Amino acid sequence: MSTLRVGKPEMAVEVATALTPHDLADLCEATNAAIIEGGGFGWVSSQDRAALARHFRGVLLVPDRTLFIARLDGTVVGSAQLVRPPRNNEAQAFAAQLTHAYIAPYARGFGLARMLVDRVEEQAAATGLRVLNLDVRETQESAIALFEALGYTRWGTHPAYARVDGRTVAGHFYHKLLEPGRGRSTDSLIGAR
Ligand SMILES: CC(C)(COP(=O)(O)OP(=O)(O)OC[C@H]1O[C@@H](n2cnc3c(N)ncnc32)[C@H](O)[C@@H]1OP(=O)(O)O)[C@@H](O)C(=O)NCCC(=O)NCCS
Repeated sequence: MSTLRVGKPEMAVEVATALTPHDLADLCEATNAAIIEGGGFGWVSSQDRAALARHFRGVLLVPDRTLFIARLDGTVVGSAQLVRPPRNNEAQAFAAQLTHAYIAPYARGFGLARMLVDRVEEQAAATGLRVLNLDVRETQESAIALFEALGYTRWGTHPAYARVDGRTVAGHFYHKLLEPGRGRSTDSLIGAR
């Protein structure tokens, strides 16, 4: 039976430190739907539930990774990961990677990706990070529009970035400076060389 939606859906983004079996199942379903539709993950072909569950359980265990999940009316429909550099990379300790960001096709167009990226940036800035880096296949036009609308600067294009369905695809690289809200501005710390 189909459900008639009345009014605006309820949207939420949170940092996941543990996942209930129900949330993990929804997360795996959302991930697979995004992979099948064409991206958001390194995987280009559909994965079984067990492989995806192993991936997300592993993410929760890695100290340098933070998993963010997006909910629409309570159901997990997307996620993103914030990856900090390893401890020995002191020179780049101020920068992190925003990766594996997607919203399932059935939950797009509500503003949830914007909320997801805003939350990742907020958390990154709150933990002292000053730069977010990300990269995206040139074919992922919605993601490119999203990141450019959110102020990410494209600084380069890799011509042989990915292989998808036997084809080589270029990829764009972006960065964004974050302002932590206190202390010296990022421009004065990083902008001036
Ligand atoms: C990119 C993606 C995350 C957008 O999710 P979404 O929840 O539908 O996006 P939002 O509703 O929050 O849209 C926010 C902004 O993104 C841009 N945008 C999103 N979808 C767009 C589309 N289809 N065409 C053009 N711009 C788009 C717009 O600027 C939009 O702002 P607006 O609605 O005020 O115009 C989703 O399409 C997706 O998961 N794509 C595949 C995965 C992917 O490419 N991930 C990036 C790799 S890291």
